[in-house]
Amino acid sequence: MATNADLLRVARARLYGNYKPAPFVLARGKGCEVWDVEGRRFLDLAGGVAVCSVGHSHPALARVIGEQAATLMHVSNYFYNEPNVLLADELCRRTGLDRAFFCNSGTEANEAVLKLARYHFHRLNQPKRTRILAFDNAFHGRTMGALSMTGTPKYREGFGDYFGGVTHVPYGDLAAVEAAFSGSGGDEIAAVIAEAIQGEGGVLPAPEGFLKGLRDLCDRHGALLIMDEIQTGIGRLGSFLACQQAGVLPDAVTLAKGLGGGFPIGAMLTRESLAGDLPGGTHGSTFGGNALASAAALAVLKIVDDEKLTEGAETKGRFLTEELQKLARDVPKVCEGQRGKGLLQGLAMHPGFVARDVLPKIQELGVLVIAAGDRVLRFAPPLVVTEAELREGVAAVRQVVEQLAQA
Ligand SMILES: Cc1ncc(COP(=O)(O)O)c(C=O)c1O
Repeated sequence: MATNADLLRVARARLYGNYKPAPFVLARGKGCEVWDVEGRRFLDLAGGVAVCSVGHSHPALARVIGEQAATLMHVSNYFYNEPNVLLADELCRRTGLDRAFFCNSGTEANEAVLKLARYHFHRLNQPKRTRILAFDNAFHGRTMGALSMTGTPKYREGFGDYFGGVTHVPYGDLAAVEAAFSGSGGDEIAAVIAEAIQGEGGVLPAPEGFLKGLRDLCDRHGALLIMDEIQTGIGRLGSFLACQQAGVLPDAVTLAKGLGGGFPIGAMLTRESLAGDLPGGTHGSTFGGNALASAAALAVLKIVDDEKLTEGAETKGRFLTEELQKLARDVPKVCEGQRGKGLLQGLAMHPGFVARDVLPKIQELGVLVIAAGDRVLRFAPPLVVTEAELREGVAAVRQVVEQLAQA
């Protein structure tokens, strides 16, 4: 069997250098544990970046994927398929929205919603209304439209001109949103797009009242409110969508990551009033909503229900918050504080500490977490994580930040 060193040699010669993976090759997983090709075990509190919602190799998910693969995988969107119809219904029921469009990733869901917002006002005969209001530090994906809404310069530089018509304002600043609507060009704003917690941006939660304020401003100015719940949805924050906790029903929501539990699928859900905004032929995806991906997502939703994972995300999230707050109090020289909620949390370090440089030291202790922003250690574990596993993970992080404090 190939060793880590054998495979790393090939990987480094053959794969693009756009990622900077850890220096081992993972071979299998179970729940919150993964093992590399040489049998070394890691506790996975990164969850494939908030993707592996029901943990690795969940038997019910694996069984459904196997059975569906042996039954019907793909027929194209010229034909309905049963798992996809049922999935659309399930997602609408859980979110209070009415229509679903399926694709394969988060960035594609955001491309769809961007086109939808523009087409909506084109259909209403308001052709100048094309502008999107997005937020500094936002992350909405890597394709050109989604990237134009992403509010972090490091992801955008070097790729030439962007789709115009996106204005970025500070996240959490309702006055800035109000000013954008009231200022020149305010009547050209078609939609506001926001995350409930800016995950990639550094696990930055929306301040109290922010999402409700956005809903009110969008209503007042006739714009659409889009919630990007790609990282926060599917129960991760203790409710199916994070915006439900703020009592906000957006006009459209985008989902991906945890929806397929590791099987690639993305979705855009909208209100009925937007149902006519992707008329026949205006948008599509060859693989979007195929039977295999839809069956996987349906299985994930069932597991989330059967194992009460949404409720668990809240209680386990509270435990993690306490653990991280205690760690931050104990090592103030390194730690700025805990951020986030549910099972999307971060330990922010003071400016000058670089999360990416700290991760290998945590990996050496057998624990996987990921960076968010420049200086936040992010926990986005599978929702099946146990308190004991969270404790083990925080202990490893503690050991590393204590060493940093002594250095
Ligand atoms: C909030 C948010 N939106 C969009 C995306 C892009 O998703 P994908 O990588 O599946 O294209 C991400 C990915 O991290 C995300 O966190």
